[in-house]
Amino acid sequence: MEKLSPLQIERLKYQPKLPSSLSNGINSLELVEGSATQSVRDQEQISELFKNTYGKPVVTFKSTGSPSVSDVRNVGVILSGGQAPGGHNVIAGLYDALKSANSQNKLYGFLGGPSGIIDGKYIEFTDEFMDKYRNTGGFDIIGSGRTKLETEDQFQESLKVCKKLNISAVVIIGGDDSNTNAALLAEWFVKNNTGIQVIGCPKTIDGDLKNEQIEISFGFDTATKTYAELIGNIQRDANSAKKYWHFIKIMGRSASHVALEAALQTQPNITLISEEVEEKRMSLESIVNYMTDIIVRRANAGKNFGIAVVPEGLIEFIPEMKSMISNLNDIMAELESDPLFVNSTSTREKFDIVEKRLDDNNAKVYNSLPALIKAQLLADRDPHGNVQVSKIETEKLLIEMISTRLNELKSEGSYSGKFSAQSHFFGYEGRCAFPSNFDADYCYSLGYNAFALINFGMTGYLSSVRNLTAPASEWVAGGIPLTMMMNMEKRHGEMKPVIQKALVKLDGPVFKQLEENREDWAMNDRYLFPGAIQYFGPSSVCDITTRTLQLERAKQLINA
Ligand code: FBP
Repeated sequence: MEKLSPLQIERLKYQPKLPSSLSNGINSLELVEGSATQSVRDQEQISELFKNTYGKPVVTFKSTGSPSVSDVRNVGVILSGGQAPGGHNVIAGLYDALKSANSQNKLYGFLGGPSGIIDGKYIEFTDEFMDKYRNTGGFDIIGSGRTKLETEDQFQESLKVCKKLNISAVVIIGGDDSNTNAALLAEWFVKNNTGIQVIGCPKTIDGDLKNEQIEISFGFDTATKTYAELIGNIQRDANSAKKYWHFIKIMGRSASHVALEAALQTQPNITLISEEVEEKRMSLESIVNYMTDIIVRRANAGKNFGIAVVPEGLIEFIPEMKSMISNLNDIMAELESDPLFVNSTSTREKFDIVEKRLDDNNAKVYNSLPALIKAQLLADRDPHGNVQVSKIETEKLLIEMISTRLNELKSEGSYSGKFSAQSHFFGYEGRCAFPSNFDADYCYSLGYNAFALINFGMTGYLSSVRNLTAPASEWVAGGIPLTMMMNMEKRHGEMKPVIQKALVKLDGPVFKQLEENREDWAMNDRYLFPGAIQYFGPSSVCDITTRTLQLERAKQLINA
């Protein structure tokens, strides 16, 4: 029986590219320091909370050409949060860098996410083990988890485990919440003179961990290409059968970068962008009216079919929902320890308990929702206090409300079309896809670079590889202080320091491209069918990165 698919065999052979500054090896690097930094907001509180790691400079690496000798180091690595294509390559890059610096170095992988370092569950990487995972998707190499690292006990336990394994640095591969963990752990390790360093790596398909130094988080490239392929396939089906409206919810817990990029790659009839909904203060009713209007106009043109892309996080950006959810989050934090609520098996009883505690206006909004959505809003928050929007079926809510509206229009005589809808949720389909060439190279470089930061004694830094629209050899490797991206936000009912999410910029070139074409795409079927573009097709398609990065780079060049 075959153990590996032909593509697996082929991908294992792929040699990821490195920036030329790193390609002469870890032992021939020079660290160049930029100027001091500060947090994006709430500077006073963040500098107080991160007394030892705040304000450090951005750094970059330069190759010196003259190799030096590295001390022996043991490093631990953690995969944290939702899966993203390329995680295995971050570890491969880290492993290769560590072994090339000194063959005595050891890499330990903590199992099941951040809880692995607390519970002392780990494996030691070997060449043979590592080689099985090169250029593969998934996080199955060591598993992942969403444990929040924040208590003194957790830090003490982590220290014990690191001491036992003689680990002097920990790499946390994660998104905004996981890198917040990294910042807290780094600060605690310095404050307690442990000598243990912490480096983060920017992961998340959501693409919302970014700023001037972090152009994109890894996984976004592959995930959006995968979703674009799927949307293209559905568009082809819709255009063939001409009988369904497909409502596609697409992952991205908060920001709409994934929906926006997938839309630019496929040109569907309707694309909602959560950030625009919030900015224009669009109510749920006005969103339904906006979509209904397009459905009616298409029906009048004889087209009872179409594609609507809905970002996963939409519900939290609709102003009346945002207020209700924020009120609900505080209530849920209190109810976590209320036995009446926790032990209640009746959904009706849970609705009643919540409704009584919500402010009047929020209770009205909550009550107006179908029971299914009300129940989904009561699902447990994740360990970082976030609503699990992946469990809220916004696409079905919209279908239901639009159907009702169309029936009203029909009875008024202003609509005579047919509305038959299919709902889809694309998220898990793309999170573990084989990393594209871009993600394979980018991730390998991030991991390699993380070890370079460790070798220079840095802590509380995020591995940063920039200039990503250029060939990999011209990428700029370095690091940015984690505290630079932080601000204070309410989580589980309390103000906490967290890394700020980067939302879609409505005045940016990526959104503008959608805005300029939206009306044309709504009525005229301009569908693009990208196909499997991770590897196949002309190299101009499978080797280059997303439209998001290209448009942002083009704008930077114009502004320069
Ligand atoms: P990260 O922010 O940890 O990368 O995870 C993002 C994400 O993929 C979201 O797009 C989605 O809402 C969420 O994870 C789903 O989480 P889970 O895997 O726990 O269902």
